[in-house]
Amino acid sequence: MIIEAIKKRKSIRNYNPNGKVSDEQIKELLEAAMLAPSACNTRPWEFIVVKDRKILDKIVDFHNWAKMLKTAQAAIVVIALPDVQIGKSGEGMWQHDCGATTQNILLQAAELNLGTCWCGLHPVEKYMNDTRELFKLQNNAVPFCVIAVGVPAEGFGSRGFFEESKVKWIK
Ligand SMILES: Cc1cc2nc3c(=O)[nH]c(=O)nc-3n(C[C@H](O)[C@H](O)[C@H](O)COP(=O)(O)O)c2cc1C
Repeated sequence: MIIEAIKKRKSIRNYNPNGKVSDEQIKELLEAAMLAPSACNTRPWEFIVVKDRKILDKIVDFHNWAKMLKTAQAAIVVIALPDVQIGKSGEGMWQHDCGATTQNILLQAAELNLGTCWCGLHPVEKYMNDTRELFKLQNNAVPFCVIAVGVPAEGFGSRGFFEESKVKWIK
C-alpha cells in the first residue's frame, strides 16, 4: 500500500557505510521517477547516478547540507530541462515536474528499505554552478536536487503529520 511507504519515509542522514545498493535497486528508483506526472507529459528531467566515492565527496565539499553523502552508497542528481517545455502549454512548470519525480524516488526507496535525503540545488546559484562544473553540464540544464541513497543506520518513521487547520473544505 502506498500509504505505508508514505508513512515510513523520512529524511535519512545516517547510512551504514558498509551497506550495499545494487544497480537494479537504483533502476527501480529511476523507473518510479519516470512514471511521475509532468506538464503536457514533457518529462523535463534527466538523472545522473553517482556511486563513485570521489565524486560523492566532491558534492559534500561544495554543498553545506549534504554531508550525509559521506556515508551514503549513491546519489541521484535530478537535472531539470526547462527548454523542452518552451512553446508548450506546460511552459515553466518544470519545477513541479521535478518535485514529483523526486518524491517518487523517495517513496520507492522507502518501499525497498533504502534511505534517502532530498538535498536542494535549485535555486542556489553556487550549488547549481558547482554541479554544472562537476558534471560538465550544458548551461540550459538546471541542477534541481541531489538525492542521497543508502542503507539506513537509523530507523524509518514519518516526521510529517496531518493538520486539520491547513484544510479548508468547500461542500
Ligand atoms: C526542496 C527541499 C530541499 C531540501 N534540502 C535539504 C538539504 O539540503 N539537506 C538536508 O539535510 N535536507 C534537505 N531537505 C529535507 C528536509 O529538511 C526534510 O524533508 C524536512 O525537514 C522534513 O523531514 P522529513 O523529510 O524527515 O519528513 C530538503 C527537502 C526539500 C523538499
